[in-house]
Amino acid sequence: MISPKRYNSFLTIISILVFHVLHFPSIEAENGGFNVKLTRKSSPYFPTHLMQQSNNIVQATTRAYIGQHLMELYIGTPPIKISGIADSGSDLIWAQCVPCVGCYKQINPLFDSTKSSTYKNISCDSPLCRKLDSFTCSPENHCNYTYAYGDSSVTNGVLALEKFTLTSKTKKPIFLQNIIFGCGHNDTGTFNDHEMGIIGLGGGPLSLVNQIGPLFGGRKFSQCLVPFHTDIRITSKMSFGKGSEVLGNGVVSTSLVAPDYATPYLVTLLGISVENTYLPLNISSPTTVAKGNMLIDSGTPPTLLQQSLYDRVALEVKNRVALTPISDDPSLGTQLCYRTETNLNGPNVTFHFEGADVVLTPVQIFIPPKDGVFCLAFANTTSDVGIYGNFAQSNYLIGYDLERHVVSFKPMDCTKH
Ligand SMILES: *[C@@H]1O[C@H](CO)[C@@H](O)[C@H](O)[C@H]1NC(C)=O
Ligand SMILES: *[C@@H]1O[C@H](CO)[C@@H](O)[C@H](O)[C@H]1NC(C)=O
Ligand SMILES: *[C@@H]1O[C@H](CO)[C@@H](O)[C@H](O)[C@H]1NC(C)=O
Ligand SMILES: *[C@@H]1O[C@H](CO)[C@@H](O)[C@H](O)[C@H]1NC(C)=O
Ligand SMILES: *[C@@H]1O[C@H](CO)[C@@H](O)[C@H](O)[C@H]1NC(C)=O
Ligand SMILES: *[C@@H]1O[C@H](CO)[C@@H](O)[C@H](O)[C@H]1NC(C)=O
Repeated sequence: MISPKRYNSFLTIISILVFHVLHFPSIEAENGGFNVKLTRKSSPYFPTHLMQQSNNIVQATTRAYIGQHLMELYIGTPPIKISGIADSGSDLIWAQCVPCVGCYKQINPLFDSTKSSTYKNISCDSPLCRKLDSFTCSPENHCNYTYAYGDSSVTNGVLALEKFTLTSKTKKPIFLQNIIFGCGHNDTGTFNDHEMGIIGLGGGPLSLVNQIGPLFGGRKFSQCLVPFHTDIRITSKMSFGKGSEVLGNGVVSTSLVAPDYATPYLVTLLGISVENTYLPLNISSPTTVAKGNMLIDSGTPPTLLQQSLYDRVALEVKNRVALTPISDDPSLGTQLCYRTETNLNGPNVTFHFEGADVVLTPVQIFIPPKDGVFCLAFANTTSDVGIYGNFAQSNYLIGYDLERHVVSFKPMDCTKH
């Protein structure tokens, strides 16, 4: 998900930096990094709205919800399990809390801060409150935040400090004291009932990676996401801090162009190849592109491409697939889709980031929004900035090093790691 606030003037960000040094959470655990699992939840249907062009819900067998990878963690004392969307496109960590004036439906009970001995409201006068781009002071002088996303989802509530407990892949508990998070009291948007909030992993000071990075050997993390249509019991992996570096054969890296502590992970895309046909982003001047024209976001499912690039890529893919595109199913909107029981024997697509060619195969290029149908997992956007979404990120180990300002890619079968 993307927060529209992120394109604000950098003045806000400078003021945030001044206060950044005043707060550090503390841990009761190891000083190296750690790994956690990311899960998908089973769905009675495929939420096709995630492809953004359809409003039809299709009955199908139980499979994973297609769209978001969830991170499980525990908040409070005693600890309550929360699963939130792992979102590299935003910073705030939040969960739905009682009392709820307007919450979307969730299966598990809402977090009740009055039952936690480690919960602390953040005062409106606190410098921690000023880490937010936008807040007001509640009548009790608490820090009342409103945080909005690019898909028009919104969470509103109070900013608080709480103890978090993460379970590492080796089952070892990792205790984190005084994590800043939002207790959401009015939350609306495109959430399903398994999603209890969002775990922000963006570049800003409130994100999980920036709150805990310094305690675990550096502000860096990596992820290996399994494709949505693999067995739901197979989990994805995320690593934080020392040990999360992406190393070895086949690694390619590109620069993060946004300044330190800015939210979006902006990189520069030069063009896209479909097999060996190169399609530059800028037709009129193939070697001229704006720096930071694409952001990498684990919270956006499809890849959104600038209109002209999307049109050329979709046409080239169509020319290289032997099947006839579906034209008689309005539920699929304008997506390029094919009737096939198994994934297409389609072309490879290479994203040419500055310094890093990332080759995608059909498992990352096509997704099955319903039984017997595979669709191109790219869509168009009117924005100048595209989004490299989570379908395209699957089966790659992707590392973000916020100190070295690079993002690295290494092809990997994430179902085996
Ligand atoms: C936090 O603030 C809410 C009201 O906004 C209040 O009901 C609650 O008791 C406060 N919690 C603590 C621990 O101070
Ligand atoms: C918090 O701010 C929102 C938006 O400005 C407002 O609608 C809401 O009433 C405020 N809540 C409190 C408890 O102050
Ligand atoms: C909850 O948020 C929605 C949209 O963000 C807003 O329209 C509504 O007034 C809010 N409700 C309350 C009780 O603050
Ligand atoms: C394409 O190149 C032209 C000529 O250098 C430049 O003016 C324009 O801004 C570029 N467009 C994009 C989308 O980068
Ligand atoms: C696609 O890329 C994969 C991995 O690089 C390669 O093994 C395969 O032969 C390519 N397929 C085609 C049709 O070029
Ligand atoms: C995307 O392209 C389709 C045609 O393929 C067009 O109908 C639609 O308006 C475009 N959407 C955006 C957001 O540009």
